[in-house]
Amino acid sequence: MTLGILAAMHDEVDDLIAAMRHQDARATVRRIGMRDYYAGELYGQPCVLVLARIGKVAAAATTVTLIREFGVTEIVFTGLAGGVGADVRVGDVVVAGSSLQHDLDARPLFPRHEVPLLGHADFAADPELTEALHRASDRFLSQDLERAVPAQVRHRFAVDAPRLHQGLIASGDQFINAPMTVAELRERLPQLLAVEMEGAAVAQVCHEYGVPYGLVRTVSDRADDTAHVDFPAFLAEVASRYSEGILRRFLEDRARQSR
Ligand code: ADE
Repeated sequence: MTLGILAAMHDEVDDLIAAMRHQDARATVRRIGMRDYYAGELYGQPCVLVLARIGKVAAAATTVTLIREFGVTEIVFTGLAGGVGADVRVGDVVVAGSSLQHDLDARPLFPRHEVPLLGHADFAADPELTEALHRASDRFLSQDLERAVPAQVRHRFAVDAPRLHQGLIASGDQFINAPMTVAELRERLPQLLAVEMEGAAVAQVCHEYGVPYGLVRTVSDRADDTAHVDFPAFLAEVASRYSEGILRRFLEDRARQSR
């Protein structure tokens, strides 16, 4: 069983790649389609790590390569999201129960959000991966966060008693930073917790190949007009720590269970 782990931005995956290279002297790297795939053991689990880059096309292409070239049997996506649900705040974690493409609209030929000729709008995440990501995120927030992100950094980004959510994540080829857009999305998708730019594309490809997927996102902004302001700093100082910490908990748990 090999797990594929992908992210959209360097800071979300670089610490994991460094950890794999440190832990597994036999880890390999293969360049395919302008991306580097790192294959080896990470916290006791066979994994392939890759930077997918931003957007649905990038995520879909990378997912196909993970499945076809590396034979991964499960996929986890880790990264950032904009909080849309009323109580989803910066520093919270959202684990997807399901995901859909909020910008997919082939009306009047097909219902809004439905992937044409596939008969699906939203794609359920794998229940076991979701539960394991939920557990890992919960432990990261309650036991590791204080050490992983210094108090002054948490204070600067107003990360205060962050919470964990599970539910709908929507993806689109659009960085959302307008309250009007958020209001419209909330009206259209009342259960929506967060927006990002890749998850539902990974989910669609995983559905087509029968590969289970899980999706975990750290909330970097509220998708409003300040969304872009602290994005690079948040990515470097907070999100990278969340990604590494949550995935470490998740992989260590799996290694323990498979012993
Ligand atoms: N990823 C992080 N924040 C986002 C936003 N506001 N819109 C889309 N993707 C995001």
